[in-house]
Amino acid sequence: METRVLAIDPVSPDPEVVAEAVAVLRQGGVVGLPTETVYGLAGDALRPEAVARIFEAKERPSFDPLIVHLPKREWLHRVSDMSDDMSDDMLAKQLMGAFWPGPLTVVVRRSVAVPDLVVSGLDTVAVRMSDHPVFGAVCRAFGRPLAAPSANRFGRVSPTCGAHVVEELGGRIPLVLDAGNTAHGVESTIVLVRDGKLRVLREGPVTGEMLEEWMNERGGEGSSGSSGADTGVMVPGQMEFHYAPGARVELVGLAEDPVPRTGLRCGLLARDGAERRPGFERVRVLSAEGDLVESAANLFAMLRELDGVDIILAELVEERGVGRAINERLRRAAGRRP
Ligand code: TXA
Ligand code: MG
Repeated sequence: METRVLAIDPVSPDPEVVAEAVAVLRQGGVVGLPTETVYGLAGDALRPEAVARIFEAKERPSFDPLIVHLPKREWLHRVSDMSDDMSDDMLAKQLMGAFWPGPLTVVVRRSVAVPDLVVSGLDTVAVRMSDHPVFGAVCRAFGRPLAAPSANRFGRVSPTCGAHVVEELGGRIPLVLDAGNTAHGVESTIVLVRDGKLRVLREGPVTGEMLEEWMNERGGEGSSGSSGADTGVMVPGQMEFHYAPGARVELVGLAEDPVPRTGLRCGLLARDGAERRPGFERVRVLSAEGDLVESAANLFAMLRELDGVDIILAELVEERGVGRAINERLRRAAGRRP
């Protein structure tokens, strides 16, 4: 299959290009689309055959459930089974009101309208509304929810630009809309509401601090956000080696200096622009000033650029804000539990 790549303006998307994507989706096909986090591989969430194409292109094991992206808030009650009397459901809806559209995914009880294949037989569904103008325009023009995992082959690094999607899925999917680099560079924060608390299942651009502040403002008890994924909640698919590039990745702590291994071609993923020891074949700096938001945006592209050496030494960043999401991805890339 030939993969068409259409450039599209990230701020004011050309309706004709949007229509090309919608045409593929209407046929039950899949399209690589930019979101504000990473590029997604989108298909009609309510059409099992389209969802099956997503799994097939990604070579993703079918036990790993997909995020359902809504065109409008009004779709929530059609894909979920939430009640206004349940305080956890109320809290989940307020959370959506505060952070949608944006890089926050909320896990809620599902409705029967959602195919089993999407949620891998779970009784919950992960929902989100993207605020990327291109994703939003395609989803609204299509008029139905889109299932969209990150547009990489299973277990590999998430794509943050159109070229990455082609690298991952070229020849397997009919169309990619290329709107340049994504803003956040790491996947959305995933939250589950339980017993009046927020459980962060995956760290992301909506940080624990942001969630805590929001909880405090509404007079809640505080959230488990700052302590991260220490909730004992199993997240299907959050397995070791999840974000692994081809090369071996080893972590370098904040207080350590990266030392290249003799006899091996070494790459260095540096947390800032400070002077490094020589001996690395390739060096990428996440952010010269050590800015965590910039680092997150660069993370996956730089891991890709470093790939090809024997070993990548990756410096962990400060364990605060979106830095926690970065470190979690690095620990997974190194094949360790976060
Ligand atoms: O930023 C993002 O979230 C991107 C863009 C494309 O929207 N999508 C993304 O999807 O990262 P994916 O499929 O690569 O990661 C979704 C994660 C998986 O780890 C999956 O196991 C988890 O969400 N997930 C999906 N449904 C779930 C559920 N019902 N309960 C708990 N975890 C769930
Ligand atoms: Mg993924």
